[in-house]
Amino acid sequence: GSHVSPARPSRPVSVVAHRGASEAAPEHTLAAYRKAIEDGADALECDVRLTADGHLVCVHDRRVNRTSNGRGAVSALELADLAALDFGSWKREGPDEDPYESPDQEAGDRTSVLTLDRLLRLVAEAPRPVGLAVETKHPSRWAGQVEERLLQLLEKYRESVPDVRVMSFSARSLHRVRAAAPHIPTVYLMQLLLPRHRDGRLPPGVSIAGPSLRILRARPEYVERAHRLGNEVHVWTVNEPEDVEMCVQLGVDAVITNRPQEVLAQLG
Ligand code: G3P
Ligand code: CA
Repeated sequence: GSHVSPARPSRPVSVVAHRGASEAAPEHTLAAYRKAIEDGADALECDVRLTADGHLVCVHDRRVNRTSNGRGAVSALELADLAALDFGSWKREGPDEDPYESPDQEAGDRTSVLTLDRLLRLVAEAPRPVGLAVETKHPSRWAGQVEERLLQLLEKYRESVPDVRVMSFSARSLHRVRAAAPHIPTVYLMQLLLPRHRDGRLPPGVSIAGPSLRILRARPEYVERAHRLGNEVHVWTVNEPEDVEMCVQLGVDAVITNRPQEVLAQLG
């Protein structure tokens, strides 16, 4: 097939909405992603986990306790169990209608768990090209099933959602993705910079570094080292104006933020 290059933003730094516009709306909900698209985000970030019956859902934590009115591990629940929970009410502050509630829901309705399939459809139907960065969470316990299901879904949307990358703190997870789908760019997330990565090198075949803001503060020279090796640098989670400014000064390629609207306004 023809090679589709990702939509390049005219500004130097690409803005990626972390769990959607997750400061304004409950993370990983359709409302949060719709707002991020409206805000003009270049791409959307999401975390994925497998349910007990093999569906990929967008949930950050191992358990649903923080972000829903239910309890328990995602891996122990079936999609139908998750669909009965409300993933929005924990974030709603008052009795007023949530301004970011999705239009196909009545005020007071439950905010449903978001499947990766539904998020891909949202991106496919967006009024402009939007990228998607999918993070595999704790993939080791599933021995390849997370990546297998993920690649099936990405293949299903290959034409309509061409600007996709897979992120992980697990080099093994990224390796599985590259082995099966070498056309998909991969992002190696790092909380701390291990000595073997200080020179900018990444696991074989990975072309994007995903350092924490903490790494950049401690080792600003990292960006230049990664760039010298031809690797991009996508930094998380960049919410404060002074941190956005630091990222711009260092020449990072993308900032992953809970506040895409504010960051885009700052970048002009
Ligand atoms: O985008 C990377 C960042 O999301 C990694 O940390 O815990 O928010 O998934 P976490
Ligand atoms: Ca994440």
